Amino acid sequence: MKNHADLWLAYKEIKNFSDSSILKKFYISGASASDRTVANAITELKTGLKSMLGIEPDFIFEESSDPVKENSGKDILDNEEYTVSLREDGISLSSKSGAGILYAAFDVLRNVSCERDIKTTYAGGRTVRPSNPLRMLNHWDNMDGSIERGYSGESFFYVNDEIVIDERTVDYARLIASVGINGVVINNVNVKNAASYMITDRYFDKLAKLGEIFAGYGIRLYLSLNYASTIEIGGLDSADPLDEKVISWWKNKMAEVFDRIPTLGGFLVKADSEGRPGPFTYGRTQADGANMLADIVKEYGAIIIWRCFVYNCKQDWRDRKTDRARAGYDNFMPMDGDYHDNVILQIKNGPMDFQIREPISPLLGGLKKTNQMLEVQIAQEYTGHQIDVCYLIPEFKEILGFRTYVKEEKDTVADIISGETFGDRYSGIAAVTNTGNDFNWTGNYLAGANLFGFGRLAFDTSLSSEQIAEEFVKMSISADEDVVSKIVSILLPSREIYEKYTSPLGIGWMVQPGIHYGCSVDGYEYDRWGTYHRADHLGIGVDRSDKGTGYALQYNEPNASVYNDPDKCPDELVLFFHHLPYTHKLHSGKTVIQHIYDTHFEGYEEAQKLSEKWDSLKGKVDDEIFENVSERFTRQLANAREWCDQVNSYFYRKSGIPDEKGRQIY
Ligand code: GCU
Repeated sequence: MKNHADLWLAYKEIKNFSDSSILKKFYISGASASDRTVANAITELKTGLKSMLGIEPDFIFEESSDPVKENSGKDILDNEEYTVSLREDGISLSSKSGAGILYAAFDVLRNVSCERDIKTTYAGGRTVRPSNPLRMLNHWDNMDGSIERGYSGESFFYVNDEIVIDERTVDYARLIASVGINGVVINNVNVKNAASYMITDRYFDKLAKLGEIFAGYGIRLYLSLNYASTIEIGGLDSADPLDEKVISWWKNKMAEVFDRIPTLGGFLVKADSEGRPGPFTYGRTQADGANMLADIVKEYGAIIIWRCFVYNCKQDWRDRKTDRARAGYDNFMPMDGDYHDNVILQIKNGPMDFQIREPISPLLGGLKKTNQMLEVQIAQEYTGHQIDVCYLIPEFKEILGFRTYVKEEKDTVADIISGETFGDRYSGIAAVTNTGNDFNWTGNYLAGANLFGFGRLAFDTSLSSEQIAEEFVKMSISADEDVVSKIVSILLPSREIYEKYTSPLGIGWMVQPGIHYGCSVDGYEYDRWGTYHRADHLGIGVDRSDKGTGYALQYNEPNASVYNDPDKCPDELVLFFHHLPYTHKLHSGKTVIQHIYDTHFEGYEEAQKLSEKWDSLKGKVDDEIFENVSERFTRQLANAREWCDQVNSYFYRKSGIPDEKGRQIY
């Protein structure tokens, strides 16, 4: 037995497959037979079809050409587009690149695993062009083996400051390539200790090897960079991006790095945030810092991904005008257009930090002249630590579908990050990943749906949450109809349920400080002077209207006016934008306080129902999976109960307003 699960690449035997004869021959055209990704595609088809259907297919190579040289996101899309079509006696896979052939192979394997009829699926041919050029996973793995915000064991990339390459490395590459991921940052954005030395001789050989393995699956290797490497490892006394000594150190360093790790795609940088060094220390702008590095790596065809998570975590909130939510926009908008064309700004989906409900960052739809990509988090930092079931794809669909009104049309977040809106040279989407060295990779087996789903959605933003959930269950658990429909009905509402029993109406942050799991109504760690939610005996919420911090005005119209007005603001965000009396009537017709009571009782009850539904699957799913999820549900219910009791009693005591349904509030 392996030391880890195969998840959606389990390739379980299928007994009654409709018609498998067409799967006996594959024609491969476009990419060359000598390409390693093509070789891996063939191995995968051989393994998968043998194991599922007992078929040993033949492969026939037709004309091939070299992929276009990639100088932009559009080149990536041109190369990675693929077509699967039917021939008289087989299936044709074509693409300009080996990666495209690999995606086509996984497309076929997915459809077989989901027991779809192949001739119907591919009738008339199926061409898929990825929605986004860059589809990345960000690991927050530290070199000592720990993972920042990791909820599924330790790192499988590092042990005791060494890089690990084993069977799991290859399986990881297969897993994520199969859902279309084409870039991985393997170390934490907080680059400290040994990680600062990743760009030194000590680690080059291993990194080169890792980069090669990934390249065989169409995945580029990226590293997080310590902005102050000149000081940390270079022996200089400065990291000023305009200092000649600093620039020259980086030039030499990058020449060495790209010589030793030729597959490296570039770097991710967290600067000037939460204790990380950056250009602000030297009175320089974020653009100065990013451009300096980008200009140097340009000759290696590499990119600099610069994070917009820049805010002052020590700021004094007492004046009630200072607002962390404003920081991203305030720091990055003034330099829109100043970033060089191999810099990409990576923007968290919300202006704060991955709460269960936040508005979309106004930088998305604000920036018009800068390459940009979206950052989401499938590591469940604020969404249940992979103990509570929280299927995040519905949230990501909302984010992608959000209209920014930056243009008359093609103005959604999905349009922006695909490069359609502004023709960005590079763009895409990244997720802080939820993986670790647990047997099943993601702690809670059902959290695998977020890893699978993120990749699928990044590749094709038009897929529905339901289709993705269904595929995950069929491929990773069972294709039995009853099992599929039950698990899909557990996954789909799970985010809404989590939201119900945790922080209400967009307020966020009522978590245990530092840990970010479990309820602590006053727990926000960065406001030492008061409570983040501003609740008193009369009301609750943060006034971010024009009368408050003014954050609402960072949006384009009509979003700005909608958010600015408590009567127009959508209920689910109303306390993010407004401080309101407990008696304020929401669009739903309920008062704020009654909404708090109702959703908390409902959230707990609905979580119980999910758990009961899971219990009904005993004996119908693999025992190990069953036990794993059951055990998590026990903890989820305790958590939901605790949240429900704490939140309801806190606000009952503050407001003095009883529940109109007369339920017991402890
Ligand atoms: C959050 C998280 C940190 C992380 C940071 C980031 O604040 O709690 O652990 O480092 O986000 O995105 O950089």
